[in-house]
Amino acid sequence: MKRVIAIDGPSGAGKSTVSREVAKSLGFLYLDTGALYRAVAYHFYKNFKNVDDFSLLPEEEIERELIKIKIHYENGRVYLSGEDISDLIRDPEVGAVTSKLSAKKVIRDFLLPLQRSFAEKMDIVAEGRDMTTVVFPDAWKKFYLDASVDVRARRRYEQLIKSGKKITFEEALKDVIERDRRDSSRENAPLVISKEAFYIDTSELTIQEVISLVLKKVAEDD
Ligand code: C5P
Repeated sequence: MKRVIAIDGPSGAGKSTVSREVAKSLGFLYLDTGALYRAVAYHFYKNFKNVDDFSLLPEEEIERELIKIKIHYENGRVYLSGEDISDLIRDPEVGAVTSKLSAKKVIRDFLLPLQRSFAEKMDIVAEGRDMTTVVFPDAWKKFYLDASVDVRARRRYEQLIKSGKKITFEEALKDVIERDRRDSSRENAPLVISKEAFYIDTSELTIQEVISLVLKKVAEDD
């Protein structure tokens, strides 16, 4: 395994921007594992229009479907059977389906080898919910990025408005709370703060300050 900087945290903590910039600055590959989960969820979202609650979809049915899924990830873009779906997976509806399906063991098992395979070839910055605990327990460096619920909902709201989505702050807040609950309470690979991770509360920091802090910590421990 090459060097892995593993970064976990809830949605809106700034993981994506920080991970991308840290990877760029160190010449590592940036691995957005949320995009892989979103790509799988997108397949189900598109092909199972009659399903209201994806939490209730039986694991056996999911397993039969997973055989058909071909995911490719390159340069921060994600492809499903050759189609670039990087923008489509950002839809809040796909996000909601993702957080339900990602609780399923069959889906986590399906994505585990794919995530690990990236670290066989290159040094990587991997961000998600279980990077420090399950996927890369032996990671070179571990971080946990956090922020208050209000700050994370505000960031999410502004991001969605900027990308042209119609959403109120209250809806963004509700969505963040609901996702936190699901990601932290699930049985399979829940979001937890690893004791080995360097904890950063980003509520009062700019993105640039967080990037600098992570880079400083990586350099000083070496
Ligand atoms: O990071 P992002 O918000 O794109 O992730 C979307 C969803 O994918 C999360 O809410 C979580 O349910 C799931 N996820 C996960 N494990 C990861 C990355 C994402 O369960 N390593």
